[in-house]
Amino acid sequence: MARRSMAVSIIRRLEAFTMTTQTATQTDPSKAGPSFDSRALRDAFGSFATGVTIVTTAGPDGVDIGLTANSFSSVSLDPPMVLWSLARTSLNMDAFRNNGHFAVHILSADQESLSSRFASKGIDRFEGLTLDRGPDGVPLLPDCMARFTCKLAYQYEGGDHVIFVGEIVDFGHSARKPLVFHGGRYGMLLAKQAVAAVESAEEFSNLSSDDLLYQVSNAYLRTRQSVIEKLESRQWKAEEYAVLSIIGREDGLCMPEIVARSEKVRGQGISAAIVQQLITRGLLEEVDASDGRVAVRLTADGRHAVLELIAIRKSSEADVQGKLDPSEVQLLKHLLARLDA
Ligand SMILES: Cc1cc2nc3c(=O)[nH]c(=O)nc-3n(C[C@H](O)[C@H](O)[C@H](O)COP(=O)(O)O)c2cc1C
Repeated sequence: MARRSMAVSIIRRLEAFTMTTQTATQTDPSKAGPSFDSRALRDAFGSFATGVTIVTTAGPDGVDIGLTANSFSSVSLDPPMVLWSLARTSLNMDAFRNNGHFAVHILSADQESLSSRFASKGIDRFEGLTLDRGPDGVPLLPDCMARFTCKLAYQYEGGDHVIFVGEIVDFGHSARKPLVFHGGRYGMLLAKQAVAAVESAEEFSNLSSDDLLYQVSNAYLRTRQSVIEKLESRQWKAEEYAVLSIIGREDGLCMPEIVARSEKVRGQGISAAIVQQLITRGLLEEVDASDGRVAVRLTADGRHAVLELIAIRKSSEADVQGKLDPSEVQLLKHLLARLDA
């Protein structure tokens, strides 16, 4: 009972808010309230970090409708209710006003592209997605972090938006990391606790001011070491791996090109002796390059060796990725690419 009255009081506050704005604009537009610089107001709103959702419904002709929205908020536990708001300019206003149901999908950190897709105009936002169906034909997206299927309970005028309040008829969620939106940019969460634990760890007490450099180099050396150990356990040297993977990618290179590519990828060159050993073992063979120089290419045995090395690399990649969850892998790749720029 107490919870119900809390929900009612929230709804009343919404009604009061709607009435105030309507009265001001309707009676005398010049007294419609202070006029703010809309860019500044937008920026101030954007300082509130939110999650990102996709809200869907079905049009009268059964067409699938959906858009990205961060105006979502939970409202009430009993009865279970949520709200979100839709810009009056939306061509889909009628569909949301008239269909008795909608679904809110909360996106996880690895669903930024889905968010961008559902905020873009002039494309089929549902193309290629495997959909389930909710009540009134509402399209339900797979693989989201949480989903609330709602019966439309109330609609309120909210300035240039319409506020939709829904009563939840079904929901589900999974333990993933959320996609975050703040200051007009996507982000993801890093628990303060985790940061504090790293900062207080003993091995970090002696860091120099280059601590980021230290951590990146350390992570590189450790991951590289684990690859080298895997290679050595199968009687491969790191240099042999380097040459075979360079030739595996680009057959028919001459020695100076192999050295240049190795310097680029590993930060160090390759001795001619290693290439010679691989020729002696029958994994590489010499051929004439078109400019008259001597190039090397893989033999059939060499190609088998490359396949084995690819399997080792994949298993090392799986070991590294196994230490992180998929959204962290994506974030780390993004950050390392920025450092490499
Ligand atoms: C992160 C993010 C949050 C958004 N939140 C909302 C929102 O809460 N309400 C809204 O009407 N539009 C919101 N938009 C904009 C719409 O997704 C976008 O304008 C979309 O094209 C609207 O589609 P429609 O015109 O087909 O309804 C948001 C966009 C992004 C990228």
